[in-house]
Amino acid sequence: MSTVADVTAFDVSLPADHPGAHDPAYRARRDTIARVGAAYRRGDPIPDVEYTDEEHAVWARVQAELGALHRTHACRAYLRGSDALVLPTDRVPQLREVDERVHALTGFHIDPVPGLVDTRTFYGALAERRFLATQYIRHHSVPHYTPEPDIIHEIIGHANMLADPELADLYEAAGHASQRARTPEALEFFSRVFWFTLEFGVVTEDGWPRAFGAGILSSFGEIHTYADPLLVTHRPFDLAAMGSHDYDITQYQPVLFRADSTERLLADLHAFFADFDDETPERISR
Ligand SMILES: [Fe+2]
Repeated sequence: MSTVADVTAFDVSLPADHPGAHDPAYRARRDTIARVGAAYRRGDPIPDVEYTDEEHAVWARVQAELGALHRTHACRAYLRGSDALVLPTDRVPQLREVDERVHALTGFHIDPVPGLVDTRTFYGALAERRFLATQYIRHHSVPHYTPEPDIIHEIIGHANMLADPELADLYEAAGHASQRARTPEALEFFSRVFWFTLEFGVVTEDGWPRAFGAGILSSFGEIHTYADPLLVTHRPFDLAAMGSHDYDITQYQPVLFRADSTERLLADLHAFFADFDDETPERISR
């Protein structure tokens, strides 16, 4: 997803409540890593980031913990992607190597960006089978939390999905749909559907809820709460309801939409994306 960090002349400003806001060393790292993404031009080799031992340790810890949880909580399509991609467990991967591997598997590219990406740019790139990814990593003091999409969200969440051919096709279809949203209202409706499916979708497999979306699968907190009936209400998969449901990105999601199966989610979403335009929200909400 696009990020909430504001990048101006490679000087990343963090909100006061960001875990790294008062850590000068972290802020300097964010600026350095943002410069790498800002210097990238499509077609160039993706420049490597020299990650610190502390950053590698954050990745290793989160990857080990999430990887174990995925075996129980991830839907089969995601596991197919992650089994094909085989991310490193001991170090932060370079986007260059993730891009090469994902492209070989599904034709999708992973492109670095320094931070803030506007909504239309982010979704529009998907139509060209390009995923715009940040390269920085969350603050080491809270390895289970990030207030914004970091490389753990982008790669453990999205790149594992993009490594599966069926899911990669769904991302591309979403990109084309976003380009047919001319009005802000239509784009907002589309964004909410994207949020409640590709980011926070839930499907039933073998009678149990399984996480489909990258937002759940890359979050230690969400993966522990998405199936807890005391904390989260699962509503039936309903595109009109998703498109008009408000969400707060700073909280665990109290309402999620659960499809009867991954196959049903894929079929319904493809149909929705295929003819999405400015009239769709009103038409399907009648
Ligand atoms: Fe995302």
